[in-house]
Amino acid sequence: MGGSMKMTALSVMLLMCFAVRATDAQAGIVRTVVAKKFITSSVSRFGLGIEGMAVDQVGNVYAVGFAGDGTSGIGSVANARAQLEQNLLVKDQTASSSFNGLRFLPLSPSLSTNFDLRALAADVKSHSVVQFLRSKRDGRTRGSPFCQNSSMIQPNDIAVAVKSGRIYMTGGAYSNVNTVVGHGDLWMCEGRSSFTNTSRELDLEPVEAKLLGLFGLTNGIEVSPDEKTLYLTESFHKFGEPYSNFIWKFDIDQKTGLVDNKTLLVDFQKLDGSGHVDLDGMRCDVHGNLFVTKNGMNGETVKISPTGELLLRIKLPGLYETTNVEFGGPDGKTLYMSGKCIDNPDLGCVDMWDGNPAPGAAWALSALHH
Ligand SMILES: *[C@@H]1O[C@H](CO)[C@@H](O)[C@H](O)[C@H]1NC(C)=O
Ligand SMILES: *[C@@H]1O[C@H](CO)[C@@H](O)[C@H](O)[C@H]1NC(C)=O
Ligand SMILES: *[C@@H]1O[C@H](CO)[C@@H](O)[C@H](O)[C@H]1NC(C)=O
Repeated sequence: MGGSMKMTALSVMLLMCFAVRATDAQAGIVRTVVAKKFITSSVSRFGLGIEGMAVDQVGNVYAVGFAGDGTSGIGSVANARAQLEQNLLVKDQTASSSFNGLRFLPLSPSLSTNFDLRALAADVKSHSVVQFLRSKRDGRTRGSPFCQNSSMIQPNDIAVAVKSGRIYMTGGAYSNVNTVVGHGDLWMCEGRSSFTNTSRELDLEPVEAKLLGLFGLTNGIEVSPDEKTLYLTESFHKFGEPYSNFIWKFDIDQKTGLVDNKTLLVDFQKLDGSGHVDLDGMRCDVHGNLFVTKNGMNGETVKISPTGELLLRIKLPGLYETTNVEFGGPDGKTLYMSGKCIDNPDLGCVDMWDGNPAPGAAWALSALHH
């Protein structure tokens, strides 16, 4: 009896081993790493609204949600040497703005005479994207509308095709408990010419915003380093809870900037059963691998290849609810991830991970222009 019990226990163990192996094989063996805490609530100058991480032209990383719980302030997170640095870049004193996505643009030769920083920020409240320029004369950063349209749902996140001079924006109406197509959108604004080289860019009149499509809740957005592919996240909620999360991929028509050939890149329910966890920020490294933050409690960042394979999981023990992601640091390989700063001194607001073999695409582009 004892013997057969042992045999049974052994076969159960063997069966379990096989079961685990089979699952691993199906999912691929995915490496998991753990990020380090970088800014915790106790030292943070950011509040609950921290997100929209972005790297500037010299490698400093910034986020929105500086100085308070609102999102009308933009401040630095880390300098180009990957040291903690929390300084205000710009704050909308009227608090009539609510910034979300943030991106820095190169300064072309004509602009660099007068300015040393150029950024675009999505303003949820005014359904617009604001352009910021920092003057060399007085060091002040001033904003003016880059593009706007009152039928934009938000905008939320921004992706930039620097060479083509185009930006793409997402927006989702998250207050709806049951998502239908139309609760999220995709927009494009075309600058007057390339963001790297132009003589007409000093014209500060806003450009037209074009609606490219309606979806479920759209959030993370990124353009591949060759500017030929657009990646977009889409989520659906039922009774206020997410149940499906996708990354879509589109071809970008190089002439018009319009998108075509919608293809499913990742269905997270099929990938690992995580359709109930919303996706948030998305950034590429120079090889076109995507880094996507997953929003729920005990969030993580996943690395996805351009063909949709799950390559890596980055666990985020320091974050409460993960929001956005961006590369910075001296070699562009330091990944910063933001999460809501809450009243727990040990949790939030930024974690970092240093192990990617390649730099971020936005960082590399900025290094190129400096
Ligand atoms: C940039 O603009 C200048 C002046 O218009 C032009 O001569 C030059 O060829 C342009 N460079 C690129 C890379 O487009
Ligand atoms: C806003 O966008 C919609 C959809 O593309 C368009 O029909 C409308 O004309 C735009 N409004 C303005 C003021 O550009
Ligand atoms: C969409 O796919 C078709 C067929 O492969 C291709 O001919 C077309 O150029 C693609 N569209 C874009 C915008 O790349």
